[in-house]
Amino acid sequence: MKEKIDSLRESFEQELSRTMSSDAVEQLRVAYLGKKGSVTGLLKSLKDVGAQEKKELGQHINQLKKQVEERLAQRVESIRAAEEQREIAAVERYDVTLPSKGLTGSYHPITLVQRQLEEIFSSMGFIVEDFKEIVTDYECFEAVNIPKDHPARDMQDTYYLENGQLLKTHTSAAQNFILQKYGAPVRAIFPGRCFRNEATDASHETTFFQMEGIMVDKNISISNLIYFMKTMLSQVFEREVKVRLRPGFFPFVEPGFELDINCLICGGEGCSTCHHSGWVELCPCGMIHPNVLKMGGVDPEEYTGFAFGLGLTRLVMMKYGVKDIRDLNSGNLKALSQFQQA
Ligand code: DAH
Repeated sequence: MKEKIDSLRESFEQELSRTMSSDAVEQLRVAYLGKKGSVTGLLKSLKDVGAQEKKELGQHINQLKKQVEERLAQRVESIRAAEEQREIAAVERYDVTLPSKGLTGSYHPITLVQRQLEEIFSSMGFIVEDFKEIVTDYECFEAVNIPKDHPARDMQDTYYLENGQLLKTHTSAAQNFILQKYGAPVRAIFPGRCFRNEATDASHETTFFQMEGIMVDKNISISNLIYFMKTMLSQVFEREVKVRLRPGFFPFVEPGFELDINCLICGGEGCSTCHHSGWVELCPCGMIHPNVLKMGGVDPEEYTGFAFGLGLTRLVMMKYGVKDIRDLNSGNLKALSQFQQA
C-alpha cells in the first residue's frame, strides 16, 4: 500500500505539471480527490487492513491528500497569473510620449475666457484669488451689507446645507475675505462658480461663473472704475464694444451701476439671449459701500474703492456667440471641443 501511495504522488505531480488551464486542474482534482478519485479510493481501501497498519497508512494517505489539495490550489493560482499576463500582453501597446493623432482635449470656453481675464487683470496689477463654493451666511450676505431681513436676499435664493452653510450665490461672497486678507490698498480679482435656485432658460442657469474684482486705495473714483472696465472689455472682445451705464441697486455698493454691452449675438437687433432688448447685462459694479469696507477692516474715511461682478458665463456667450447658456454645462463634447486655445 505504501508503494501505491508513493506512485500515486508521483503520477499526480506528473499530470499536474501537464495541466495548462483551470479546467484541466479541476479535472485532475476530481480524478484524485473526487468521490471516485484515486486518493479517495485509497482511503476506502483502509477498511481491509489491520488496526495498526490502518493508523500508519491513514496518516500517509491524509498527508498525500493534503499535498494534492495544496498543489492544485498553487497550480490554479499560477495558471491564473499566466493568463492575466497573456491578457495584458495582448492589449495594444502605446507610447504615451508620442504626439497625438488629432485627438487632443480642449479647455472649456469658460476656462479660456477666465484665463484671458486673469492675464489682462494681472497685467494691470491685480492679484488673482481663489475662493470656496460653500460659504457662510455672513460671507455671502451679511458681510456685503445684506442683513438677514433684507429684500435683496429674495433675488439670490440658493441651496442650503443642513449646517446652515450655503452654495455661494455670487463671487461678492469673497469680498470680506480679500479685504481682511490684504487690507488696503488692494487690487484683486476672484473668479468662481456660483449657484442659484433659478428657473432655467436660454440665459439663466442654476450654476454659472462670475468674476469679481475690487480695487481699494486712496482717492479711487468712478472714473477709475470706468477706465478699468473699458480696458478689460476691449481686450476681451478685441474690438470696440458699445457699453452703457445705468443706475443699479446693490446693497454693497453706493452708487451702484449696471454696465450693459450691446448684444453681440444679434448685433443689437434683439434675440432670445438679450430678451429682445439689444443689450446684455454684463457687469454690475459700483463704489464699495462704507459698511463693506468697515466689515473688511478698512477705514472708509481713508480709503475708497470700486467693485464689479462680471458675469463670466454671459461674457463667454457673447464672445463665442453661444445662444443657450445650458449648452455650457451640457457636457456635450461635440459643442465644447470647438473651443481650442488660441
Ligand atoms: N454680486 C452681484 C450679483 O451677483 C453682482 C455685483 C454687483 C457685484 C455690483 C459687484 C457689484 O461687485 O459692485 O448679483
